[in-house]
Amino acid sequence: MYQLQNFDIEHFLTEYWQKKPCIIKQGFKDFIDPVDEHILAGLTEEDSVDSRIVSYEYQKWQVNHGPYDDINQHCIGAWSLLVQSVDHYIPQADLLMRAFDFIPHWRMDDLMVSYSNENAGVGPHLDQYDVFIIQGKGSRRWQVGLPGKYQSFRPHCDLSQIPEFTAVIDQVLTAGDIIYIPPNHPHNGIALEECLNYSVGFRAPTQQEMLSSFADFAIDNNVLAKRYSDPKLQRRTHSGEIKQQEVLAFKQFLQQTLESELFSEWLASFMSQSKVVSEEYEQEQSFTVQEITELLAQGASFIRSPGVKAVFAEQPLNGNDNFTFYIESQAFSIPAEHTNWLIDFLSAPQFSHSPENPSEKCLFFTQLLSTLVNSGYWYLE
Ligand code: SIN
Ligand code: CO
Repeated sequence: MYQLQNFDIEHFLTEYWQKKPCIIKQGFKDFIDPVDEHILAGLTEEDSVDSRIVSYEYQKWQVNHGPYDDINQHCIGAWSLLVQSVDHYIPQADLLMRAFDFIPHWRMDDLMVSYSNENAGVGPHLDQYDVFIIQGKGSRRWQVGLPGKYQSFRPHCDLSQIPEFTAVIDQVLTAGDIIYIPPNHPHNGIALEECLNYSVGFRAPTQQEMLSSFADFAIDNNVLAKRYSDPKLQRRTHSGEIKQQEVLAFKQFLQQTLESELFSEWLASFMSQSKVVSEEYEQEQSFTVQEITELLAQGASFIRSPGVKAVFAEQPLNGNDNFTFYIESQAFSIPAEHTNWLIDFLSAPQFSHSPENPSEKCLFFTQLLSTLVNSGYWYLE
C-alpha cells in the first residue's frame, strides 16, 4: 500500500488543485518503486502498450514509438523511455495511483512511468491536464512556471515544446517527493542521474466529447426523440429568419434534455470508460454463484482489476428502486436497499471474507461478484 504523508487533502484541494503548483516533500516516506527499468522495457515489447523514447543528442530531438524488438538502438544521448497506463498492467503501480483516490476515479486517467538517464527530459512544455509526478529512484530537477502566452513549437513532429520560461518552482526532487502541476503551467524536468518518475494523469472531457456521447446515448436508448413544436407560430416577412423568441425556444427545448433524469445515468456511464480496456484480468474459467459463495467462505479475496472505474451518480434522497453503477459503460443494477454496502465494496480496491460482512449473506452480492469476476472487472487473488 502507498499512503500519502506530509499532505493535508483539504488544504491541497482549497489552495492548489487546478490553481497553483506545489511540491510535497517526502509525500511517500521510504518510497519503494513499483516497477524498475527492466519491467518497463519488458512492457514495451507488447503491441497493446503505448510507449515512446524521447532522446536528445547533437542538438537534435528524436521520438520513437514502441513496441520495440530492440529497445537499445533508440537509447542514444540523453534519453527517456515513457510508458503509458502502467497501472493497467502492474498491480503495484495501480496501488500507487490509489493513493490519490481522494480525487474521484472518473477524473483520473492513467499512470505514465518514465525512465531517464542523466540529463534527459522531454524539454520545457505545457500539458492540458493536472498531474502529480512522483519521484522514484534517482533525482530530477523540476522547474515550473505560471500560465501565460507561450509560443509552442515542434523540434520533432511528435514533440511539442515551448521556449525557456520563468520558474516559480525550481527544486531537485528525490525518491518519495511529489510535484503537483495544474494544467497549462509550463514545466521542465531534467534528470540529474538515472531516474524513474511516475505521473498520475487526470482527464477532463470537452463539451464536444460530452455532447457527442450524450447524443449517441440518446440514439442507442431511443430516447429524447421529442420533436420541436410551435403552436404560437406567427406570420413573418422574411421566411428564412429564426426570431429571437424562437432561438430561445430551441435553446429551452435542448436544455430540457439536460434536465431529464437520464442525464445523470448517461454521465455515470460516460465517465466509467477508461482509455485502455485491459484484458489481462479476464478469467480463464467462469465462476458460478455457488463457487463464489464457497470461495468466500474459504477466505478468498477479490481484487478490483487495475484501471476499472466503477462510477455511479449520487442517489436522490427518495431515489429510485434500483441502484445502478457503470463500468466501461455497462450498467449493473441491484435493489436500492443494498446501496450502502455496495458503494463501500465498489470503492475498496480489495474485498476479503469477513464473517460480519453483511454483503456476504446477500444473494445479490454473490451474484454481482460472480458477474464482475466473469467479466474480468474483479479477479480472484
Ligand atoms: C517525464 O516523466 O519524463 C515527463 C513528465 C512530464 O513532464 O509531463
Ligand atoms: Co508534462
